[in-house]
Amino acid sequence: MAEPLPICYLNGAWLPLREARISPLDRGFLFADGVYEVIPVYDGRPFRFAAHFDRLTRSLDGIRMRDPHERADWHAIVAELLQRNDATNAALYLQVTRGAEYGRNHAPFPDVPPTIFAFCSPLPDPSAATLERGIAAVTAIDTRWSRCDIKSVALLANVLLRDDATPSGAQETILLRDGLMMEGSSSTVHAVIDGVLVTPPNSERILPGTTRSVVEELADRVDLPRVTRPVTEAELRNAAEVWVASSGRPILPVTQLDGRAVGDGKPGPAWRKIWQAFLVYRNECAKLPW
Ligand code: PDD
Repeated sequence: MAEPLPICYLNGAWLPLREARISPLDRGFLFADGVYEVIPVYDGRPFRFAAHFDRLTRSLDGIRMRDPHERADWHAIVAELLQRNDATNAALYLQVTRGAEYGRNHAPFPDVPPTIFAFCSPLPDPSAATLERGIAAVTAIDTRWSRCDIKSVALLANVLLRDDATPSGAQETILLRDGLMMEGSSSTVHAVIDGVLVTPPNSERILPGTTRSVVEELADRVDLPRVTRPVTEAELRNAAEVWVASSGRPILPVTQLDGRAVGDGKPGPAWRKIWQAFLVYRNECAKLPW
């Protein structure tokens, strides 16, 4: 993993990331009482800025916090963070917690200033080998809470589920609940079934992914029929193609699932089309204001 870029934003200050400090009484630290976003940046330009900040506001609303900034202020913070780090292709991480009280109280005190933190890391494109071979994934029963639509920093279940993939060298864990495919430990999962791109509906059990809507728009561009409907575990295991999509590793084909080949074990034709369309779309976006 490449090192993060050196300058971070913390509560209005610009600091070397190595020197940034928060209180141990921060509710984010004590209770995981906060939310976050990961925003991909290509050519120095945030990708789907509005969608990420709409979701941030929605997540804050879900934990009964007001968005601490107007959109224009967020825009200025993001622009300055990218500029101070001379960032080109990066993953911008942004976190807002309910702040630090003097003590530990389950019930939050009103009017405590939030803690706002942002930094970025280099975001290389997937390697040629990954694009050629795809990735392996495993499945696991979804042990997360019932508000997965909130992008909460309480990620312990996601972390442990992702770790289930590690012993076999797989790179994602696809989560199953009540016999249905939900999503990955940190990605949206799409399946190609009978020539149709199938994506499970957003719900309180699934994070509304921003890359998901990109995939849907690109499917329309390349005339790939698509539908939003539940996907059963059996359908997942028999799908011709399975993809994982997220801001961190845009759209990757899963070619092995629980040690068995997905389709013919190679990235499928639908994924190849979507990947090309994604590269074109990303270039188009590079010229647009954000
Ligand atoms: N995760 N579902 C989960 C559980 C996720 O954590 C993510 C993203 C997604 C995809 O959302 P998006 O397309 O907006 O990135 C779906 C980020 C990248 C993370 O936690 O690092």
